[in-house]
Amino acid sequence: MTTTLITGANKGLGFESARRLVEAGHTVYLGCRDAERGRRAAEHLGARSVVLDVTDDASIAAAAAIIDSDGGLDVLINNAGIAGREGQTRDPAEIGAAAVTADMMREVFDTNVFGIVRVSRAFLPLLDRSAAPVVVNVSSGLASLTNVTTPGTPAYAYLGVAYPASKAAVNMVTVQYAKAFPAMRINAVEPGYTATDLNGHQGIQTVEQGAEIIVRMAQLNPDGPTGGYFDAAGTLPW
Ligand SMILES: NC(=O)c1ccc[n+]([C@@H]2O[C@H](COP(=O)([O-])OP(=O)(O)OC[C@H]3O[C@@H](n4cnc5c(N)ncnc54)[C@H](OP(=O)(O)O)[C@@H]3O)[C@@H](O)[C@H]2O)c1
Repeated sequence: MTTTLITGANKGLGFESARRLVEAGHTVYLGCRDAERGRRAAEHLGARSVVLDVTDDASIAAAAAIIDSDGGLDVLINNAGIAGREGQTRDPAEIGAAAVTADMMREVFDTNVFGIVRVSRAFLPLLDRSAAPVVVNVSSGLASLTNVTTPGTPAYAYLGVAYPASKAAVNMVTVQYAKAFPAMRINAVEPGYTATDLNGHQGIQTVEQGAEIIVRMAQLNPDGPTGGYFDAAGTLPW
């Protein structure tokens, strides 16, 4: 029996990934910062929920203690993420290098990057005891320096600073963790531009399409790739 924790799983890509992994037979914990939203989502899916705010060490430690005493963890999906203030406006004057502040960066990094570090640190001892430990870090196509510097691509046209910088950091964290823990499969994934609350449902894919690569990489065998960056079509350029 495979036990999986998905952070930020009460809606969007995390919720859809949970639905698919429950269907595949995993015991799935939804890590949600709001207890009631988590409880309702878990009940809907036949999953379990734990209160987990990726910006709060105490809630992460409490969630790790619960999952540990229930029997441990095999798969960690670091999915919780925010777009930050740049993601909430359509005013070009509020987006980009001339508008970004250190506070805007700090807020986005606190969830998207430091959140992954906090959660990974708390759950690595549990994953270490698994026979087939897997970590999926939900990154973005905007993390790719190649994409963002290739004129004519959607990534090139994106002006925001905080979100793509945070996801580029997620890719680096992924690579360094993968080297440090060679017995684990640790990869970064790009779901693709998906209609969720994160982008005011502007995304062009459904959550079913977006969750595809998350679910696939969550089910890697021990001989699968590690330290990579993938979307549904294959390997992405860094
Ligand atoms: N949608 C896209 O086009 C797209 C593309 C590439 C990558 N991604 C990435 O995919 C992941 C999921 O995003 P989504 O599109 O599914 O967005 P979403 O529908 O807005 O879901 C984000 C989830 O993260 C949770 N969350 C936010 N801050 C949290 C915190 N401090 N602690 C715990 N949970 C927290 C949210 O919980 P609340 O309900 O409590 O806010 C929600 O469950 C993110 O990492 C995002 O960057 C999305």
